[in-house]
Amino acid sequence: MGWGTKNRLARIIKSDGRTVMLAADHGYFLGPTSKLENPRKTLEPLIPYADAIMVTRGVVRTSIDPLSAAPIVLRVSGANSIISEDLSNETIITSVKEAVRINASAVALSIYVGAKHEHQTLANLAKLVDECEEYGVPVLAVTAVGKELGKQDARYLALACRIAAELGASFVKTYYCDGFEKVAEGCPVPLVIAGGKKLETERDVLQLTCDAITNGAAGVDMGRNIWQNDNPVAMIKAIRAVVHENASVNEALNVFEKEKS
Ligand code: 5RP
Repeated sequence: MGWGTKNRLARIIKSDGRTVMLAADHGYFLGPTSKLENPRKTLEPLIPYADAIMVTRGVVRTSIDPLSAAPIVLRVSGANSIISEDLSNETIITSVKEAVRINASAVALSIYVGAKHEHQTLANLAKLVDECEEYGVPVLAVTAVGKELGKQDARYLALACRIAAELGASFVKTYYCDGFEKVAEGCPVPLVIAGGKKLETERDVLQLTCDAITNGAAGVDMGRNIWQNDNPVAMIKAIRAVVHENASVNEALNVFEKEKS
């Protein structure tokens, strides 16, 4: 890994080897997702507590103060939508030059292993890694499963994460699953987990985070379970306690309750 790549990655994954990334790129294929209709309003109070923010260039330009210190992980794959026939039909939508212009600390791209456009999305990743090598920009591969795949078992996710690492991703975003330690074991680069759809309780979210960390994740790249919570700042602070301070679920719940009031 070159100096620039290492330096950029260190802005995201902190010296303890952990990270709390805030995912807010959902609009790129979901449109105005609930509670993210106005990204600036949603993100502004959360940015001080995020180690990085994952967004598209549209949201960077319209909704993030350029003087904000938060590292940007720029989503650069897309050109699909939730109502399209096949979600896996993605391409690279933003150049690496543009990512550098934005001063992104990394770029993110989805791969759809086992889907109709598997080859295309894996080739996108390989091409992006080659281009990013030239500029010292880390690549986050997102192991998206797509609406038709529902495959969230350890065998599938281990396969997808390992392929992403083999193609040169600097870090990988995936889902937590039973047997997650097998996914982490087979992936030689750091793993971060998505939160998925909003869970019923704060305890569920903190348990998910705690399980992921205990079983080998470097942190989270979480969206809905933070900003769809009625107390998003309290939620991200509680998640930080688990990720950066090894807080137990009960300790993190105390953080949530204290911050909420
Ligand atoms: C979509 C993404 C999203 O950023 C991701 O799913 C994370 O958000 P959430 O925690 O809401 O699931 O990368 O492919």
